[in-house]
Amino acid sequence: MTDKEEVKLFTREELKTRNTREDAVMVIHNGVYNVTNFLDEHPGGEEVLLEQAGKDATEPFEDVSHSSDARSLMKKYKIGELVEADRTPTKGAYAPDWNNDQPQEQGNAWSSWLTPLLLGIAATFLYRYLFA
Ligand code: HEM
Repeated sequence: MTDKEEVKLFTREELKTRNTREDAVMVIHNGVYNVTNFLDEHPGGEEVLLEQAGKDATEPFEDVSHSSDARSLMKKYKIGELVEADRTPTKGAYAPDWNNDQPQEQGNAWSSWLTPLLLGIAATFLYRYLFA
């Protein structure tokens, strides 16, 4: 599948029954993969794939820590994606949660110029007190 083709959308419900040797489809990171023709070739064996067929295999897939070769190979079997409502928000190492980091950085930025500001105000009063 190339980027230019329109992405086909699936629901988790309709994938549940696609769990046979003749039609093995699974979800990995919200992508939908038809691994029917890959069963024989999978270095990890067809059993593990059939066990996950019809389900979300993201966790077992990541537990094995597949190589980058495996990750680029899987593109070949991608047939679409989950509909928006059925997606799992991606989090953790594979999609850093930038939103979570930003307020913390802003907090640091705020406190990092609050101290000089207070020192400045204190110096102003000290100056006035000494020389007024
Ligand atoms: C489209 C999906 C998948 C692709 C393209 C794929 C591809 C591969 C490849 C290329 C390897 C060789 C080692 C490596 O390069 O990392 C491998 C190993 C393995 N895979 Fe997958 N895999 C897929 C899904 C799964 C799933 C869902 C499981 C579920 C448990 C799984 C379990 C394993 C295991 C256990 C090995 C290790 C085999 C060994 O080291 O003896 N794979 N896979």
